[in-house]
Amino acid sequence: MIISLLNQKGGVGKTTLSIHIASTLALSGKRVLLIDGDVQGSALDWAASRKEDPIFNVVGISKNTIHKEVPTLAKGYDYVIIDGPPRVYDVAKSAIAASDLTLIPVQPSPYDVWAAKEVVDLINEVRETINSYRSYKKIDSSFIVNRVIPNSVIGRDVEDALSQYKFPTLKNYIHQRVAYAETAALGTSVVEQDPNSNAGKEITNVVKEIIKTYSSTNKK
Ligand SMILES: Nc1ncnc2c1ncn2[C@@H]1O[C@H](COP(=O)(O)OP(=O)(O)OP(=O)(O)O)[C@@H](O)[C@H]1O
Ligand SMILES: [Mg+2]
Repeated sequence: MIISLLNQKGGVGKTTLSIHIASTLALSGKRVLLIDGDVQGSALDWAASRKEDPIFNVVGISKNTIHKEVPTLAKGYDYVIIDGPPRVYDVAKSAIAASDLTLIPVQPSPYDVWAAKEVVDLINEVRETINSYRSYKKIDSSFIVNRVIPNSVIGRDVEDALSQYKFPTLKNYIHQRVAYAETAALGTSVVEQDPNSNAGKEITNVVKEIIKTYSSTNKK
């Protein structure tokens, strides 16, 4: 299954969630490839700052050829996660075309809700022209709410606001937690550090929800 994390808006959590979804899948015994689609190379930097042996592979493709390269690259892997770049349209389009599922991280703020229109339009555009890319499967899409302040109800508000775009939202939210930034700096992840922490549990629940909701509907 090929999953990309995309949003034209910067800093919404594409890289953080890519790394954490990849880590969680890898720790559950899956073979995982993470493609860094951003010239900034944040996921590659994360891998380089790691002291332990890698639990999944990370490669960089920040070009609009991702959809052409993925079928060959995906061989031998159960999951390919694509960390998308902000702003760069042609790379984002290529990542969408490569994917079974595009996840759109959105922070609970009206600015993020408005800004999501860009990536929603892009996904709809690629879906309409999908025959020129890949004619044999549909692309699922979902929002994932990131950086919800613990014990606040703002996640529900943002989910309501996002419903205007006609894409579903994952039921499990990711909260604002220092562990995400702390583990990133060490080239590790909250699930490796402590799978039973609040952060470890919520990312595990997100991954379970993704698999339950989307993997069986996709033909590999
Ligand atoms: N749930 C969270 N809790 C705490 N900090 C977070 C969370 N999600 C992301 N961050 C922090 O927010 C910042 C931006 O996150 P990240 O780099 O993942 O976003 P991005 O969408 O990949 O950005 P860019 O568009 O620049 O690639 C980072 O410093 C990251 O550590
Ligand atoms: Mg990033």
